[in-house]
Amino acid sequence: MSSQSSPLSDRKPPLPPRPVFLDLWRIRLPLPGVVSILHRISGVLMVLAIPISAWLFGMAVTSETGFQRATGWLNSPLIKLLLLVLMWSFLHHLFAGIRYLLMDLGYAVDLAAARRTAALAAGIALVATLILGGGLL
Ligand code: HEM
Repeated sequence: MSSQSSPLSDRKPPLPPRPVFLDLWRIRLPLPGVVSILHRISGVLMVLAIPISAWLFGMAVTSETGFQRATGWLNSPLIKLLLLVLMWSFLHHLFAGIRYLLMDLGYAVDLAAARRTAALAAGIALVATLILGGGLL
């Protein structure tokens, strides 16, 4: 018996055409995937907020008129909405981040538990945002 394979059996299946077009709107991410993307987005939002917060803080501590200008900014409805988004960012990032750290330690890594803890982290962050965000109004 010959050990050589035939040229036909060596033939690899044709590669799919490149580049692959991913229609992100048609991808149905499971909840842990959504929580993961929101964790990244919330981290980026908080980083972007650092220079704006520093600028407002600098304005508020420089002079009395600066303080009044800063509080004027903070009382505008648009900034209040942004603060609410930032508050959610922090809370979502906090609870999802604790979830990832626990998963890194080996807790709740099977599929069912991962789904439950994803819902729990996202839910607690939303409820906490609504409760704490009430203070902004
Ligand atoms: C409040 C407590 C926080 C906890 C428990 C936490 C936890 C984590 C964890 C576990 C990761 C890694 C996630 C992974 O493995 O994909 C992470 C990533 C990150 N964190 Fe935090 N974090 C916290 C606060 C913050 C703050 C205050 C900021 C920004 C000012 C921040 C910005 C980021 C960013 C930008 C990433 C990278 C996101 C990514 O590439 O997916 N985090 N955080």
